[in-house]
Amino acid sequence: MKKLFIKTYGCQMNAYDSARMADLLAPLGFAGAEAPADADMVILNTCHIREKATEKVYSELGRLRALKDEKEKTGGRMIVAVAGCTGQAEGEEIIARAPVVDLVVGPQSYHRLPEMIARIARGSGERVEADFPALEKFDALPEAVSGTGVSAFLTVQEGCDKFCTFCVVPYTRGPEHSRAPERIVAEARALSARGAREIVLLGQNVNAYRGTDAHGTTWSLARLIEALADIKEVLRIRYTTSHPRDMDEDLIQTHAGIAKLMPFLHLPVQSGSDKVLEAMNRQHGADDYRRLIARIRDKRPDMAFSSDFIVGFPGESDQDFEATLRLVRDVGFAQSFSFKYSARPGTPAAAQKKQVAEGLKAQRLAILQKLLLSQQDDANKAAIGRTLDVLFEKPGRNTGQIVGRTPHLQPVHVDAPAALIGAIRPVRIEALMGNSLRGRLI
Ligand code: 5AD
Ligand code: SF4
Repeated sequence: MKKLFIKTYGCQMNAYDSARMADLLAPLGFAGAEAPADADMVILNTCHIREKATEKVYSELGRLRALKDEKEKTGGRMIVAVAGCTGQAEGEEIIARAPVVDLVVGPQSYHRLPEMIARIARGSGERVEADFPALEKFDALPEAVSGTGVSAFLTVQEGCDKFCTFCVVPYTRGPEHSRAPERIVAEARALSARGAREIVLLGQNVNAYRGTDAHGTTWSLARLIEALADIKEVLRIRYTTSHPRDMDEDLIQTHAGIAKLMPFLHLPVQSGSDKVLEAMNRQHGADDYRRLIARIRDKRPDMAFSSDFIVGFPGESDQDFEATLRLVRDVGFAQSFSFKYSARPGTPAAAQKKQVAEGLKAQRLAILQKLLLSQQDDANKAAIGRTLDVLFEKPGRNTGQIVGRTPHLQPVHVDAPAALIGAIRPVRIEALMGNSLRGRLI
């Protein structure tokens, strides 16, 4: 038996991909290792979204070099692979900079890992696979087994055609493509047969999903969700990440009509300034976003929203930043992710002259995060005293405790038997502890 260690960076799609790589390599005799030191093969599934994410990869490669040297001294071997978005973006450069790396594989080519490993063993052939062979990957992958808990990720769409001027994703994940709906429904059935009760549909631009079935009919995300809601064992459906431009009426209506579709939407806005939104090529203004939120709330009043924000985009003035704070106050977000702008090689914004000073970015980020955190806190406090449906996912830290989530994705700790894991029960929320809620079964 050989051992495999996969370290995952970045987004949920990378988590999904890591699980698929584990499934792909299992028939080759690779079982999971506890730590890189025990592994015959280490895969870093990397992220390239900000400079910091990429730096992490190189420092981990430094640590792996020491481990690999150690192993080789005692006659052992360790294959080091870089997968994911940094692999895609940097290709050969990674091997030049970190010779510890044996092979590099992009997010659309990791189904070729078995043949790449064979090539390494022979000591000849291409060590980098980084093209975009359309949907070949999904056809080549085995059924999803790894990483499937009560809540399971399911990639339905990949890539991006939007080209926001700050973002590497169109270059690392390639053009938008959607998986066939039949394949997705089959995967959701297989996941639910393995105990999944919540399916989280993933895509870089998930609400732009347009899958074609065997009859040549195109399905929207709304139609796909309706079909998935018919699977009895699937109790909850979520999807992420959406673009405001692709939030069509059908999908909004689905939030009103399909009870299994949770009232929580991650809808990144990035900035509240029209000037910055334009420079980002977001293809909508701040008021378009406000109106969209109002339309969704009109159909589904209990909808909670989360968003991503970038501060210090090139040319962002104090007034632009104020406009972002105004939008945050107007909308009210239950959860958020916010970042300092990071200039990414090859993206249009990186070439702009008016870059914002790091110190100013840090100041703005602190102000924004304080506001966002207070909104998150308010949203959590509003749950206290209410009775909410909780889907239990796993054992808690303390014995006798299990953890689940509310429809709004808030974690809740409850004293209850482990037999309830996988079930939904009404819970009376009693207190807020840090970022998670405490409740009692009723
Ligand atoms: N700098 C900072 N944040 C970025 N994001 C994407 N690209 C960059 C960048 N160059 C953020 C966006 C996106 C999230 C996944 O990461 O907010 O929605
Ligand atoms: Fe990072 Fe984006 Fe790649 Fe996910 S898709 S790993 S967030 S660069």
